[in-house]
Amino acid sequence: MALSSSEWTWTAILALTNRVYYDRDVAELKVGDAFVHPNHHSIYDIVGKLGVTSVFEVGCGGGDHLRNLHLLYPETTVRGGDRSTEQLRFLKQRNPEVAEQAMLQDITMPFSTQWPKAELVYSQAVIMHIKTAVSHLNALANMFKLAEKYVVLMENYGCHPFVDDVKRLHEGGHIGWNDVHFHVHHHGGRPYCLVVSKEPCLLALLDDYFELPLAKKNSLLNRPLSLRCRTAEGERV
Ligand SMILES: C[S@@+](CC[C@H](N)C(=O)[O-])C[C@H]1O[C@@H](n2cnc3c(N)ncnc32)[C@H](O)[C@@H]1O
Repeated sequence: MALSSSEWTWTAILALTNRVYYDRDVAELKVGDAFVHPNHHSIYDIVGKLGVTSVFEVGCGGGDHLRNLHLLYPETTVRGGDRSTEQLRFLKQRNPEVAEQAMLQDITMPFSTQWPKAELVYSQAVIMHIKTAVSHLNALANMFKLAEKYVVLMENYGCHPFVDDVKRLHEGGHIGWNDVHFHVHHHGGRPYCLVVSKEPCLLALLDDYFELPLAKKNSLLNRPLSLRCRTAEGERV
């Protein structure tokens, strides 16, 4: 799921021709012979399938996804934030058409009412890298505050136990939604991307977290905290 440095060149700005578009008749992103990384393909397809009117990308980096989504779905409001001024400068050069839609935002900070809400909030290769104390939990809680309907996590599912974390945040009152529904978007016929919705949605229900790419069954990270036990010898499961 994480992109290696060589793959970054693939974080392509889509040349939107009649080969790349969301086909509403079959409810599917069509890319023809264009190369679209599976992570990006999944996000763009989810936005089309869920038919949202606004989208916010957490950790938007150079803004390729903002631009691609803007071109694919011109009727959808597309915005994003990144904590790095350097990345935002880069975005301005690389994707000037969406520069106004990108803001400085550290998603691990206390929630700000100045942050714009969106029906769908997503991250791609961002939360997986946040490993300091409970910072990634702050980030997740903030994403749910920003999201009116959906949170899409296109992340390395072995880096954090995302479903357990969201459940714990919800149970602890950190997520204002009445309920959280775990869905999955498939790519290449396999479970690929985690989608959490406020109401049940048309995507398949998540059956098994460990079918998601790189989710590790043996990892301590993927066990609920309640199953961990601190002993004099250290933590055991
Ligand atoms: C691996 S890049 C991914 C960029 C973009 N999502 C993409 O797929 O092209 C991770 C991005 O997350 C941003 N980031 C890291 N921690 C963040 C935080 N706490 N709040 C907002 N952005 C953050 C970084 O500055 C960087 O631009």
